[in-house]
Amino acid sequence: MPADRTTKLVTAHFGNNEARTLAGYERMGGYQRLRKALGMKAEDILAEVKASNLRGRGGAGFATGMKWSFVPKDAKTVHLVCNADESEPGTCKDRELIYWDPHLLIEGMVISAYCLRATHNYIYIRGEMMREVAVLQKAIDEAYQRGYLGANILGSGFECHLTVHRGAGAYICGEETALLNSLEGERGQPRLKPPFPAIKGLFGNPTIVNNVETLMNVPFIVDQGGAWFAELGVGRSGGTRTVCVSGHVNKPGVYELPMSITMRELIDDVAGGVWKGRQVKAVIPGGTSMPPLAADELDVLCEFDALMTDERIRPVEVLPGQLFDMGGGRNLRTMAGSGGVVVMDDHTDIPMAVWRIMKFYAHESCGQCTPCREGTGWMEKVARRVAFGQGKPGDVELLATIAHGIAGNTICALGEAAAWPMLGFLTKFRGEFAAKLAGAAA
Ligand SMILES: Cc1cc2nc3c(=O)[nH]c(=O)nc-3n(C[C@H](O)[C@H](O)[C@H](O)COP(=O)(O)O)c2cc1C
Ligand code: SF4
Repeated sequence: MPADRTTKLVTAHFGNNEARTLAGYERMGGYQRLRKALGMKAEDILAEVKASNLRGRGGAGFATGMKWSFVPKDAKTVHLVCNADESEPGTCKDRELIYWDPHLLIEGMVISAYCLRATHNYIYIRGEMMREVAVLQKAIDEAYQRGYLGANILGSGFECHLTVHRGAGAYICGEETALLNSLEGERGQPRLKPPFPAIKGLFGNPTIVNNVETLMNVPFIVDQGGAWFAELGVGRSGGTRTVCVSGHVNKPGVYELPMSITMRELIDDVAGGVWKGRQVKAVIPGGTSMPPLAADELDVLCEFDALMTDERIRPVEVLPGQLFDMGGGRNLRTMAGSGGVVVMDDHTDIPMAVWRIMKFYAHESCGQCTPCREGTGWMEKVARRVAFGQGKPGDVELLATIAHGIAGNTICALGEAAAWPMLGFLTKFRGEFAAKLAGAAA
C-alpha cells in the first residue's frame, strides 16, 4: 500500500524518550529485525534491498541495493561507513534521527554489515553534534553489552564492530571519499574516481558509504520485505522521505512524508504555509546545492525522479535559451538532494541570498582543483558586488560563465553544488539580478 502522511518509519519514535534506551527500544520490538536478518542468507537480504527501491538519502538518490552489489564477491575485508556528517545548508534530519532513535541506526548498520560481510565499521559524525555523539556512543555501549555488537552476535558467528568518529567541521568531509581520507587520518580531500569506494575505499578495501536515513530504513525492509517497501513509494523510489523544512514557513521542522506529496502540499499543509500571510518566491528543494523551484513550479512531487524530470520545472539555462547539458541529452531541472527544503517568501532579496550561498561554497572548497578553488571565490566576489548594488554591466553573464566553467570540471560534486544553484537562480530570477545592476548603474 502506498504511504500516506501518517506512515512513519524512521521518525516513528520522535518525541519518545524511551526509544533512546536499549530497554525501551527492545520493548518496542527493537533488534527483532536483526534476529530475523541473521537467520537469512546475505544474498537474500541484498535481493530484498534491491527489490525495495531504496535510494540513498544523502544527496544523489543512488539505488542502495545496486551500490551494495558493486562490492566484489571475493573481497576479504569490507567496511560499511555511515555518513552522519550532515553539513549541507538546510539539512538537519540526520541529527534528529540519531537523537531520537540511535538503536535503529545501529540495528540498520549491523543488518547492512551482515549483508555486506563487513566487520569493522564506522559512523562519521559531524563534530558539532555533541549531543548526538553522546547519545550514539551510549547506545553503542549498550548494544555491545547485550551482544548486538561484538564477536558472535546473538550466537550467529557474525562479528561486527562500530566506531564513532567525529569530524572537525569541514563540509567537504561529507563527500564520501573526503570522508574516507579523513577517517584514515589524511587531509579531508576528495579522491579521484574511479575507483569508487565500493571497489577501493577505506584502507584500500571495498567500502560502502551510506547516509544515516538510508541505513535506518534497512530494518523495515528486512521486516516487511522489499516489495512492501517499494509499494510505499512512487515509481523507482521506495519508502518514505524525511525532509527538513526551514525558512519562511509557519511550522519549520523535520517531517517524514510520502513520496507522493507535492511541494505545494508540503509547504501549505505540513509546514503551515508561508509566514506573515506572504507568498512563496522560491523554494530550494534539497539543500542549497540544488537549483530552486519558482512559485509556479510547486505542484511537482517531492520524489527523486519527479524533481529531476518533471517538465513543469523549467530547465536550468547557462544563458537565455542555452540549456545546461548534463550529458546524455539530459537537462538539469533540480534534485531531491539531501531533503533540505528552504522556503523563501516574496520579500526575499534573491541576489543577496545567492551571495550568501556562494560565500558558503567558496569557504568550503577544499582547494584541490582549480575550477572550484578559483571559481567559487570569483562567484562569491561577483555575487557580492551585485547583491550590494555595486555590480558592473555584464556581471550576470560573468556569473553564468564562471558557473558553467566549474560544473563537470572538478574532482568532486562540490563544484556542481556551487554552480547549479547559481545557474538555477539566474535562470529563474534574472530580472532581480538585472534590477540590482540597473540600480548600480543609476
Ligand atoms: C560536497 C559534498 C558533501 C556531501 N555531504 C554529505 C553529507 O553530509 N551526508 C551525506 O550523507 N552525504 C553527503 N554527500 C554525499 C556523499 O558523497 C555520498 O554520496 C552519500 O553519503 C552516499 O550515501 P547514500 O547512498 O545513502 O545517499 C556529500 C556529497 C558532496 C559532493
Ligand atoms: S571540487 Fe572543490 S571541494 Fe571538490 S575536490 Fe575540487 S576543489 Fe575540492
